[in-house]
Formats: sequence, structure tokens, C-alpha cells
Amino acid sequence: MISKNFEKLFKEAIKVRERAYVPYSKFKVGVAFLTEDNSVVVGCNVENAAYPQSQCAEASAIGSLISEGFSSIKEVVVIGSGKLLCSPCGGCRQRLREFASLDVHIHMCNSKGHLQTSTLGELLPNSFGPENL
Ligand code: THU
Repeated sequence: MISKNFEKLFKEAIKVRERAYVPYSKFKVGVAFLTEDNSVVVGCNVENAAYPQSQCAEASAIGSLISEGFSSIKEVVVIGSGKLLCSPCGGCRQRLREFASLDVHIHMCNSKGHLQTSTLGELLPNSFGPENL
């Protein structure tokens, strides 16, 4: 078993991934967070004709996390497209760092299932976070 919450998060991330707005890359990403009270918050990527204005799935999910009144992330599932690992991009690792501790597990998946789990600290070593200010 990957974790007791994995199946629940995977199911929600698969669902929201289908809502991704990706006319340019065609690369759908779905993300599900487990919040501080074991609720689930999701997000998908939303692209834009002005390409740099596109938003990653993690950023969408963080927007929902805060908008829905939650404040922290205990576990993450990211589901990309294709066979290879979809690990959070550099910017999203830093975005996650604001709301997740370094020991939070990030389960990277494709639509068929789990590929790899890393902690946020492994993905973002020697990071700069709120306590550094
Ligand atoms: N993307 C995400 O949403 N999250 C990631 O962690 C990696 C990349 C999106 C951005 C863009 O819409 C598409 O995947 C291709 O880069």
C-alpha cells in the first residue's frame, strides 16, 4: 500500500485531470491534495493563448486550497500524461513549499497508476520558505 489516502487522492486527481484546459500542449495534469483536516482539494492545468499565462495544476489546486479556507497540505498526488514521470515543475515545487512541510509525500503518477513517491524535501533541497524570512 502506497498510503492509506492514496486511492482516494488518485481517484479525485483522475477526475479533475479530465477537466484540464490544454488546447496547446494537450498535456493534461490533475492534482489532489490532502488538507490538514483530511479533506481533498483538486486542481488541473489551465492554458492560455498567451502561453506564459498558463497555470499548472498545482497552482490551480493551491488557489482552491486557500479559497476554500484550508491552510496546509499533508499529501499530494500528481497525474500527468504519457508514460513518463510528471514531477512538479520547479516553480510548483516552490509553490508547494509554502503550504507543505518538507516530509510531505508527493506521489507522481500517470493515468494507469503510481510511478514514484518523493518527499518535497527530496524534490526541493536547501529550499527557501516562510521561516527563512
Ligand atoms: N504542468 C502542470 O500542470 N504541472 C506540472 O507539474 C508540470 C507541467 C502543465 C503545464 C502545461 O500546461 C503542461 O503541463 C505542459 O507543460
